[in-house]
Amino acid sequence: MDAISLQAAPTADSLEDFIFRMSMARGLDEVMMIVRQSARRLVGADGVTFVLRDGDKCHYADEDAISPLWKGQRFPLEACISGWAMQHAEVVVIEDIYKDDRIPHAAYRPTFVKSLAMVPVRQDDPIGAIGAYWAKAARPCDESVRILQRIANSAAIAITNVSLINSLAAAKEDAARARDAMILAMASLAETRDHETGNHIRRTQHYVRALAEALRDHGGYEALLSDDVIDLLYKSAPLHDIGKVGIPDSILLKPGRLEPEEYEVMKTHAELGRAAIATAERYMGSTTPFLSLAKEIAHTHHEKWNGTGYPQGLKGEDIPICGRIMAIADVYDALVSERIYKPAMPHDDAVGLIVREAGTHFDPALVGVFAKIAPKFAEIRRQFGDAA
Ligand code: C2E
Ligand code: SIN
Ligand code: SIN
Ligand code: SIN
Ligand code: FE
Ligand code: FE
Repeated sequence: MDAISLQAAPTADSLEDFIFRMSMARGLDEVMMIVRQSARRLVGADGVTFVLRDGDKCHYADEDAISPLWKGQRFPLEACISGWAMQHAEVVVIEDIYKDDRIPHAAYRPTFVKSLAMVPVRQDDPIGAIGAYWAKAARPCDESVRILQRIANSAAIAITNVSLINSLAAAKEDAARARDAMILAMASLAETRDHETGNHIRRTQHYVRALAEALRDHGGYEALLSDDVIDLLYKSAPLHDIGKVGIPDSILLKPGRLEPEEYEVMKTHAELGRAAIATAERYMGSTTPFLSLAKEIAHTHHEKWNGTGYPQGLKGEDIPICGRIMAIADVYDALVSERIYKPAMPHDDAVGLIVREAGTHFDPALVGVFAKIAPKFAEIRRQFGDAA
């Protein structure tokens, strides 16, 4: 029965093969599985156990043997030979276990074991041990012990790799969470000064995503607007007006129309935003797709299709697609919202105004897609309204 299940499992044919498979392991379970499938045959033993250190206990986590050993059981470190091997960071070879008082003889009596070799996993700071067991009382041969040692060493390397990979992934997640929190903190700073509510950030994000997804699906932009790019757009949209933190209250919060020279100051928010994000890039010593997109959006969301926008007066497709998308989302939200300088406009009027501005203010292809999904904008507006 054992022989059949062993044959069915994909085993490593040689020690080299074994070490190679071990180097590819991506989890502790996989490490133990590879040991279970091949170690006993490679060592030439009647049983092999994989023991993990679990605080002050040895956990017999896995085994492959001619008859059951201690799989699943835990013993105090002091009471078992694997604990001795871990605590002393030493290889143990015992030719007759009943003549060695480090061995808890009672635990061995129900088993076939007469001799053993036990090798710690990770020599400098053992995290476990691998044991090999034989049914006859004879000194295990040097070759078997050497192979067992190489198996334990490759398991140690694999386990170290797995934990490095996991901690890298956790660090990346932490960094991504910190980044998302910082974006929202920065964006809310801009909004607080502008007397906007947090819902404005979320609306703008959702408008941008809705428009980008519709463009990808109907507008022939599927190559440009991958899921990753759309996610980045969604995350960087809240920073489009970050430059407004640099605009004086007397202008930003002016209840009425801006004088031309005041409007000139207001227009600098696009360049101020670009510069702020460029500063972040300089401190980082490099850029990221997120920062570079956020910078582009802040810089270009007030450009107009006919070249009369600011700050650069870019025209047509010279305006990055993210700026063209943001322009529609930004103006729609400004129109249907009450601002300190103007009342809110009904949804249909806002859509009508944007449609009329196709080819002058906005990219006409984008306006075509916007008009098709305008009800979705109204829905987002309702969902993240300011009334709440
Ligand atoms: P915002 O309020 O977020 O508006 C963004 C853009 O939406 C505006 O960019 C403009 O293109 C469009 N928009 C907003 N309200 C209207 C409107 O009633 N009619 C039309 N046709 N379009 C509108 P713009 O003009 O470059 O303004 C940038 C920012 O400057 C505005 O952001 C707002 O913070 C400020 N601003 C603009 N005009 C005035 C004003 O008369 N008074 C005050 N206090 N601030 C203003
Ligand atoms: C061992 O000593 O290797 C396992 C069994 C036990 O500790 O009782
Ligand atoms: C803001 O006013 O803070 C954001 C501007 C916008 O998206 O219209
Ligand atoms: C402008 O003042 O030229 C821009 C739009 C507005 O007044 O709301
Ligand atoms: Fe703006
Ligand atoms: Fe805006």
